[in-house]
Amino acid sequence: MIRLATIGTSSITRSLIDAVGLVDGITVTTVFSRDEDRGRRFVSSAGLAGVASVVSDLGELLADPDVDAVYVASPNSLHAEQALAAVRAGKHVLVEKPAVTTAEAWERLRCEACDHGVILLEAMRTEYDPALDVVREVIPSLGTIRRVRLSYEKRSSRYDQVLAGERVNIFDPALAGGALLDLGVYCIHALVSLFGEPLHVQAADVTIASGVDGAGTALCTYPGFVAEVCYSKITTSTLPSEIQGELGTLLVNGIASPTSLTVQRLDATSTTRTLPPLRHTLDGEVQRFVELVEENGDATYDQDLTAATLRVMDTIRRVTGRA
Ligand SMILES: NC(=O)c1ccc[n+]([C@@H]2O[C@H](COP(=O)([O-])OP(=O)(O)OC[C@H]3O[C@@H](n4cnc5c(N)ncnc54)[C@H](OP(=O)(O)O)[C@@H]3O)[C@@H](O)[C@H]2O)c1
Repeated sequence: MIRLATIGTSSITRSLIDAVGLVDGITVTTVFSRDEDRGRRFVSSAGLAGVASVVSDLGELLADPDVDAVYVASPNSLHAEQALAAVRAGKHVLVEKPAVTTAEAWERLRCEACDHGVILLEAMRTEYDPALDVVREVIPSLGTIRRVRLSYEKRSSRYDQVLAGERVNIFDPALAGGALLDLGVYCIHALVSLFGEPLHVQAADVTIASGVDGAGTALCTYPGFVAEVCYSKITTSTLPSEIQGELGTLLVNGIASPTSLTVQRLDATSTTRTLPPLRHTLDGEVQRFVELVEENGDATYDQDLTAATLRVMDTIRRVTGRA
């Protein structure tokens, strides 16, 4: 049984704990919070009272021989340091997206994970959603691909706080907030997973009052086609993602968690496929993590995808003047 400790007490950790409860071979035994009282309240609201202990000292958590693995769900800027400390303490690590903020930091982290013989996995739920494999299966029927447009554009309810002049973690440049790192990462990871790394990347974005990108677009060049990646936390798109081939177009209703796929053909006929509901959106990533840890498996494929995603994001941030 993998004894997991969590870092972060927001809704995503709560959700991960629910997913862990559905998967065999893993259990949450420890919760870290900077504030012990908050940690205790979190443990009881997550139904872990009497099951999981609370710690407020990360060093103590990482020194605990009864912790096998750590899930990192702190603000983005903290992932690299916390994941590195966990890996060096001999813990397997499941780290929220974006795993770290640069490809260089990821290479350093994965080398350390390799040296310490532990599994390191980015918690990129889209990659472990069976819907992405259905998208992958449909693509050859579209003929030669000429255009891809993947988007995740959703106005955050917390944007109102930014407009009111308040500081909000996910819009804070000091915590590596912003639309690319929060939402664009889903599109780019899916793009790289479906089509590989682009030859060339151009980008433009919109800076908001807090100093981060509120919205942006990247244009990625592939042999024979172009891919547009649109991300926003300050506006909402009503359009599906699209993969356009010479014989047909696939519409995906939400690239981060697809639930409906429509193929429109040249003869104007179309077929819509509603995908079966998932047991839990984070189920797949937890299953994959358990499988890798239990079997001392090879995470190279997963880690390479994270690396390629971060290289694309590095370029976007460089050309938009953010790195
Ligand atoms: N996979 C998904 O669907 C999904 C969804 C949402 C978020 N995420 C990812 O999950 C991570 C957390 O996102 P979030 O929006 O939940 O973040 P958040 O609420 O800003 O912070 C998460 C936790 O980190 C701790 N924390 C907050 N501010 C901190 C600071 N300044 N310094 C140190 N610790 C701090 C808090 O726990 P304590 O105060 O108890 O220590 C908090 O509960 C991000 O990497 C995000 O990209 C993933």
